[in-house]
Amino acid sequence: MKKVPILIIGFGVIGSGVARVISEKKEVIRSKYGIDFELVGIGEHNGCVVCPEGIDPMEAHKLKQEGALNRHPCWKSGMNSIDLIKEVGADIVIEATPTNINSGEPGLSHMMTAFNAKKHVVTSNKGPLAVAFQKLRKMAEKNGVHFRFEASVGGAMPVLNLVRETLQANDILGIEGILNGTCNYILTRMSTEGLPYEHVLSEAQELGIAEADPTYDVEGIDTACKLVILANAIFGMNVSYKGVDVTGITQITPEALKLASDDGYVIKLIGEIQDENRPRVAPRLVPKDHPLAVGGTLNVISLRTDLAGEITITGRGAGAVETSSSILSDLISVCEA
Ligand code: HSE
Repeated sequence: MKKVPILIIGFGVIGSGVARVISEKKEVIRSKYGIDFELVGIGEHNGCVVCPEGIDPMEAHKLKQEGALNRHPCWKSGMNSIDLIKEVGADIVIEATPTNINSGEPGLSHMMTAFNAKKHVVTSNKGPLAVAFQKLRKMAEKNGVHFRFEASVGGAMPVLNLVRETLQANDILGIEGILNGTCNYILTRMSTEGLPYEHVLSEAQELGIAEADPTYDVEGIDTACKLVILANAIFGMNVSYKGVDVTGITQITPEALKLASDDGYVIKLIGEIQDENRPRVAPRLVPKDHPLAVGGTLNVISLRTDLAGEITITGRGAGAVETSSSILSDLISVCEA
């Protein structure tokens, strides 16, 4: 059995969700892959849990649910995550702090600290990737460690790993898709129920998938960040979200959706990268029977390739358990690399 000590930085919905899933899947991961992930540290904004002998991930998850992580016997009040990453022996850092697309912080510093400490990074955090993708990739390379971020785009949908592990021989010629579940939910509900925008936006917030500031969803910024990650990771571009042409969904009315529907179309917020063009996010008419016409909170991505033709995957783009699926996939593949 290979023991792999890990740190989780950011113990919110995603970070504590990962702890829960690691606990639930412990036996499967041991028997299928011979790996024993041992949680040795948790970083939060107001302190850390540190225990080199191993933290019970389910106990930590439960304490977090009760708002009482600071009652953990190994809680160190005031210790910061940078010191945790530097000082505690671990192979992999899971970075799951909240996304900040302007500065990328605090995730950016956590990732850079991890690379300098020769630790692999697995993340769901879009901000640092949208701000400094190539810098982070180069730092990981220079330090001889892995940098995996499947969970940052499309939640559970395995798009980056699909390209890296399965479509290796293909040139990827174009990418288009729905990368924001909140917008998809809003447009679907407005279209099927004829409800006004403001009403469905608050519904989407209640579902818990909208960004803390839902402007990022409805103005297309979240989609643009994910597109930037795809552009940089798959096409080797060096763009930030400011290099994306972005139009959101705030101007779309129930009447426009009705007119589209009468003609056999739905309106979707589509992110696309085609050939050498600037990445673009904008509402587009999509035929109702088209593979991109998925409803509700679903995400979808179509890859245009030279050998395989068109490949379309769809799935849940948000949620703690769904995002953990991608994080676990990255954790296992780092161990097997
Ligand atoms: N706010 C995002 C969405 C969450 O609605 O898709 C996942 O990145």
